[in-house]
Order: sequence, then structure tokens, then C-alpha cells
Amino acid sequence: MTQPSLLTAFDTSLIAVDRSFSSTETNTSIATSISNEEHQPHHVSNNPNMDNNELYERWAGTYDSDGNPLLVVDDLRMLDLIPAFVVDVQQGKESLDRRLKIMDLGCGTGRNTVKLLRAGWDHSVDLVAWDVSKAMLAIAQSKCDDLKKSGNSNAAVAEIEFDIVDFADLKRFPTRYHEQIDGLISTLVVEHLPLDVYFHALNSVLRPGGIALVTNMHEIMGNVTQAGFTSVNGDRLKGVSYAHTANEIIEAARMAGFEVMGPVQEAALHAAMIDGGQVDGQTFARGTVRETARRWVGKNVWCGFKLKKPVE
Ligand SMILES: C[S@@+](CC[C@H](N)C(=O)[O-])C[C@H]1O[C@@H](n2cnc3c(N)ncnc32)[C@H](O)[C@@H]1O
Repeated sequence: MTQPSLLTAFDTSLIAVDRSFSSTETNTSIATSISNEEHQPHHVSNNPNMDNNELYERWAGTYDSDGNPLLVVDDLRMLDLIPAFVVDVQQGKESLDRRLKIMDLGCGTGRNTVKLLRAGWDHSVDLVAWDVSKAMLAIAQSKCDDLKKSGNSNAAVAEIEFDIVDFADLKRFPTRYHEQIDGLISTLVVEHLPLDVYFHALNSVLRPGGIALVTNMHEIMGNVTQAGFTSVNGDRLKGVSYAHTANEIIEAARMAGFEVMGPVQEAALHAAMIDGGQVDGQTFARGTVRETARRWVGKNVWCGFKLKKPVE
């Protein structure tokens, strides 16, 4: 039986600014070490036991397969959002006499990079995928290579480049794509960075008129948990996460000069993703999401934003 969608949206103009929330334990030492001192590591939502590079180096092998509810909800939302992103980015392409440059900022294992590789581009495209984790990037590259070999990628994608980049290392932030990127996606990454550092990265690469599709862990979830995984030894491994609210992300985007396009989207976890069944016409096998995520059923776990860098 098809279950009702738990996708909602809210008008960003109606959100009250509320900077207070109850966080769990905080530990600012690692957060400070990965960002410049002027960036306040407020709203660190956790007690990290390693930095994010080490976390993802160790998580890479099981990241795609451990029943993470956020990945499943993000995958479902991307079914609509990637085609809409392609339409948005290709509008105005007539003014470009070069290949479009599209970036996956914080691509991880390439879960969404492959969607960009399969997407319905009708204009030539180069993809660029950046991440701090070598192990995550290696998986992304392997997935993209496999997709190209299978013949199921879009031939309009001419080249794909994978680079190790630490978005928090402002002094060594690459300049080769400075304001060159026509469109970027950045999924489930904002959580790991102070907002000014994150939007510095977006602003650095996106050209005026460029579009960004950003998704993140919803604050309802981010206030009590964070990205991390349980190792084979049973250790709960956690990096640095920030419990940014949707409102804080929007405010920071506007402060960085971006326009927020349309309403912020929110989506909840559905029981069918754990028990098996259909959501929004998509069929989920039993156990697609791990049982331990059941407490999030019916609650918003995901949010998404569409941003535009204005033409000056
Ligand atoms: C939750 S994963 C999301 C990966 C992928 N975008 C997805 O949606 O599946 C967060 C990613 O952000 C990357 N990341 C975290 N901090 C980073 C930083 N300072 N610079 C670059 N990448 C970073 C991690 O290595 C990881 O791949």
C-alpha cells in the first residue's frame, strides 16, 4: 500500500530567529583545531572522539550499507531534486559557450555524484567532486568508473575530477574553480562545518548566477544526535558536528550573499523504510533503514535548501 508522503515545506520568511537550543555535551577542542580561530565553534552538538577526516576514513567501507536513515530519506528526495536542479542549472546555458561545471561539494562515497552522472543533462558537463576523506573519494571514483563502464551514465558528462579538499582549511582552499561552478550539490555536509566556513566554500566556487542544492540533517535530529557509526568493536565513533537550525543556515546563506529560492523542505523518516513498503511510489525492502532508527519514524530528519548566488 502506498503510504502518504511525509515531505513538508515551510516558508523561510516566517521563521523566527531562535539561537538557543539545548545541546548535548560539547567539546570544542577538535572543532577549533580544524577551523580558523575567529570561527566560533558554537552549537557543537557532541563530544567528538576524532576529527571528521579520521571519522570518514574509518566509516567509508560501511557508510553506504549501514542502514543510515538520512541517506535513505536523502536518496528519496533526490529523485525529484536532482532533475529540478538540472533544469535550474541549464536555464541560461545559452549564454555559455563552454561545458557546464557541476560540483558535488563533500561528495563522500559518491552516493549523489552518480546521480549527477546519470542525470538528464542536454548540455555538455564536467563534474568535480571534492571531499576531505581519501577513502570516501576512492569509493566515489570507483562507483563513477563502474557507472561509466556500464553504459548507464549520461554521455553529456565529459570529465569527472575527484580532489581531496578540506573546506575548513581556508588558507589552502583551492582557487582553480574560483567562481567557475555553474551548479553544485552539497548533501549532508553542512553539519560538519561552522556556517561561515561552509558558505565561504560555496561562495568561493559558485559563479554569480550559479545554483546550489544543499541538504542537511534536520535540527530535530541534530539536537540529539550526529553523524557517526559503531565500529566492529562496538565503539561509537563521532566526529565534529554542529546542530545548525534551518533558520541559522538560511541566515548564514543570506549573510554570505545568497538568495534562498523557494521554501525550505523538510522530510521525515517513514516506517516503511524499516518495515518494507512504499513511500511516494518508491518500494523499500524491509531493513532498508536499520531498526535502531525507529525512534525517528514520523519525525523530520532531513531538510533541503535551494540557493542562488545573485548576478551583481
Ligand atoms: C555525511 S557525509 C555526506 C557525504 C555525501 N555528500 C552524501 O550525501 O552521502 C559528510 C561528508 O563531508 C565530508 N567532510 C566533512 N568535513 C569536511 C571538510 N572539512 N572538508 C571537506 N569535506 C568534509 C566527509 O568526509 C564526508 O564525506
